[in-house]
Amino acid sequence: MSDFPAWQFDELKQVGKDYADVSEVEAFDVFHGQFRDVKKENERIIETLSIQKQHSVIEFGSATGAFAIQASSRAKQVYAVDVSSAMLAFAEKKAALRGISNITFCHGGFLTYEHTNAPVDFVVSSLALYHLPDFWKDTALRRLHALLNPGGRFWLYDVVYIEKGHKKNIQEWIESMEKIGGTEAVEDVTMHVREEYSTFTWVMEGLLENAGFTIDHAQYDKGVLAEYICSRK
Ligand SMILES: C[S@@+](CC[C@H](N)C(=O)[O-])C[C@H]1O[C@@H](n2cnc3c(N)ncnc32)[C@H](O)[C@@H]1O
Repeated sequence: MSDFPAWQFDELKQVGKDYADVSEVEAFDVFHGQFRDVKKENERIIETLSIQKQHSVIEFGSATGAFAIQASSRAKQVYAVDVSSAMLAFAEKKAALRGISNITFCHGGFLTYEHTNAPVDFVVSSLALYHLPDFWKDTALRRLHALLNPGGRFWLYDVVYIEKGHKKNIQEWIESMEKIGGTEAVEDVTMHVREEYSTFTWVMEGLLENAGFTIDHAQYDKGVLAEYICSRK
């Protein structure tokens, strides 16, 4: 972080859930598999963006590499970026076991990753931007915008709250997680709301637009989850 000012947010310091912890990393796929169909989610992203052989993609918050690995069979090059070395090591091993050679694993994050290759066609990020406070989301989104080719697209999935009825929505979300993921899922979501930096939809949309994105599609689920597909103006 030496090239950054002393007041730079330290994104390498884990906020909320500790993804630097090897046991968290090893449990991640099984835990998320209880309440998500990650393969189907990733297929939907690949299809929606129409990722093809000539395209390059950067994923921020690549974790155990599920999206990067799936996208690598369709794209020319995938860059998988994460602040957790433990996540990167796990994902890299998974990719090596499958003989995949077109993923570059990069230790860094929204605020620190330095891309030394040509701009890319797509930036993708799922459930990772909420690790940054809103002030730093602005810096992050401007950096992501600069990584894209003109006309390039940004797919974002994050915990984002619709303001009206947010307390009720959060409570219902936590209760619904108990049914599908048990006590651990309840603790996970409770800690998320308490300690991580999810924001309101009107803040996120303003940040995206101020960073130079056009929001082509916005979809909300349960008042607490948002999907945005944006293009670079
Ligand atoms: C909840 S996991 C999401 C993983 C995956 N994208 C998914 O949708 O299942 C969040 C990941 O974001 C990473 N992360 C946290 N802060 C980050 C940052 N500032 N820049 C990039 N990745 C970050 C964590 O290390 C973790 O691997």
